[in-house]
Amino acid sequence: MALILGIESSCDETAAAVIDGNGTTLAARIVAQRIASQDEEHRPYGGVVPEIAARAHVEVLGPMVEAVLADAGMTLDDVDAIAATAGPGLIGGVMVGLVTAKALAMAADKPLVAVNHLEGHALSPRLADPTLQYPYLLLLVSGGHCQILEVAGVGQYRRLATTIDDALGEAFDKTAKILGLGYPGGPAVERLAREGNPKSVPLPRPLVGSGEPHFSFAGLKSAVMRAKDAGIHADADIAASFQQAALDCVVDRTRIALAAAAPGMTALVVAGGVAANAALRGALEALAAEHGLPLVAPPPKLCTDNAAMIGWAGAERFALGYTDPLDVAARPRWPLDDNAAPVRGAGVKA
Ligand code: KG4
Ligand code: ZN
Repeated sequence: MALILGIESSCDETAAAVIDGNGTTLAARIVAQRIASQDEEHRPYGGVVPEIAARAHVEVLGPMVEAVLADAGMTLDDVDAIAATAGPGLIGGVMVGLVTAKALAMAADKPLVAVNHLEGHALSPRLADPTLQYPYLLLLVSGGHCQILEVAGVGQYRRLATTIDDALGEAFDKTAKILGLGYPGGPAVERLAREGNPKSVPLPRPLVGSGEPHFSFAGLKSAVMRAKDAGIHADADIAASFQQAALDCVVDRTRIALAAAAPGMTALVVAGGVAANAALRGALEALAAEHGLPLVAPPPKLCTDNAAMIGWAGAERFALGYTDPLDVAARPRWPLDDNAAPVRGAGVKA
């Protein structure tokens, strides 16, 4: 058994999990997991407030680790290593999780594995689908990131595309805010979109048709704002038309990336919070089929932030002998592909 305690605290979810890296099914791999969302704390502000997030992680994480170990019927002595998100993310929250992991590792004399949160998302499809082999083409779509990467192995990423402005999840969240749907926005927009006509509001498809597979959503968001201000469209129609426009962009950009990818990709894979969106999964399913590839998407609960994916990435790293010193630093920015060239027009989110 390779038992890993995983800890996640990079944004607004506090989570802990016990993962069995040798499990051969998803059910066997996730021995126990707990997650506490801070939605209620952040809702009045319409977005995540970093100080509130860090304080909430501090209050919740210690007892949660004890509880998840109890759920697993274990003590800290039983685990082989402790994995925690070390970035990227809100630095206060990341530090709460990482410092907790360091303290536990020191107290129990266990190795520490510092996990890149994005690697957690990137490898989560392998946690969910034990048959998924490297290399695969990954569409990583979350609140902070929107990238297409070749995943050739643990720590082996080549970025083919990124966003030059907003991330896809951010576009969903901003649309939700414009429509007064509250926070978090993605699931609310998806729900409302089911009641609307996706062809009713003319909206732009930024960068569709361009030869490089990069993304842009800022212009789409502005158009959604103008459509709302016009006062002539039902909110459900705006939501449905926004979602359709966004998905058209994603499908077009991913199609370009599939053509640009190295030969031998075993699957098209989607991960990150927005991968929970059923319409997105449907559209990508069709695109993958066009290319004779399976679409692999983790169950929605493993798409949004969780500790199982951090424990799993820790398990993959630990199996390769990768551990980290107890003085490893938290990193607010930590790209998966250090060699990716900056993209023209890209801001801090690249
Ligand atoms: O991966 P995640 O939980 O946190 C980050 O690392 O960012 O992703 C959160 C993002 C949010 O922008 C949220 O609105 C979006 O994922 N999201 C969705 C859906 N569920 C979550 N967007 C569209 N449809 C959904 N069903
Ligand atoms: Zn995430």
